[in-house]
Amino acid sequence: SRTFFVGGNWKMNGDKKGIDEIVDFLTKGPINSSTEVVVGCPQCYLIYTREKLPSNIGVAAQNCYKVAKGAFTGEISPAMIKDCGCEWVILGHSERRNVFGESDQLISEKVGHALDAGLKVIPCIGEKLEERESGKTQEVVFKQLSALLPNIKDWSRVVLAYEPVWAIGTGKTATPDQAQEVHAQLRQWLRDNVGAEVADSTRIIYGGSVTAGSCQELSKTGDIDGFLVGGASLKPDFIQIINARG
Ligand code: 13P
Repeated sequence: SRTFFVGGNWKMNGDKKGIDEIVDFLTKGPINSSTEVVVGCPQCYLIYTREKLPSNIGVAAQNCYKVAKGAFTGEISPAMIKDCGCEWVILGHSERRNVFGESDQLISEKVGHALDAGLKVIPCIGEKLEERESGKTQEVVFKQLSALLPNIKDWSRVVLAYEPVWAIGTGKTATPDQAQEVHAQLRQWLRDNVGAEVADSTRIIYGGSVTAGSCQELSKTGDIDGFLVGGASLKPDFIQIINARG
């Protein structure tokens, strides 16, 4: 009953010519109409990408700040994302956390403001390799999720992304069992801390080296409701990932 959701995260890649190529393969598809598709593009291309893509594909920013406007050089607000015609934002991606030092607290405030401003949000959580190897995966992702909780009032506009840091950009995709185990724990956490309805209806998507080759097995598990795709979202293979559920 949860609509399959596939997001592309272009990160800091591409130019207008490259975006034209992506728009071309996304427009040709064919895209399974029962999959919700959103692509996250660099800020400076939000308008360009939104104007080029068909309306059945959503466009996300990859970050935004926690207030509406002001003296915050280099930042953009959710209101600006909406003004560019886009309705989504990815927040708390592991690169924001680990390259740019964003804290659980800051990410939570950003998620709260983006939701208040009317955006739909893809918050990202996930453990590092040493945390997994020392048996701390559940503890880490529960802490990241708990930090978000006070600022999420409307879960219907949230798609939660589980992206283990060791799987991102490494070619080391989590196995279906590894990913499913964490997704089931996250859904149980939602059941215990938010409620059954939210636990049953919230999409929890997996990210980390998802490819056309790995997507089908991952999509057959009970609690993986789609993907957040980096590198493979820049290539026509992305269509196969969008259509993983057939
Ligand atoms: P890759 O698919 O390139 O591993 O990136 C995953 C990711 O970080 C998506 O947000």
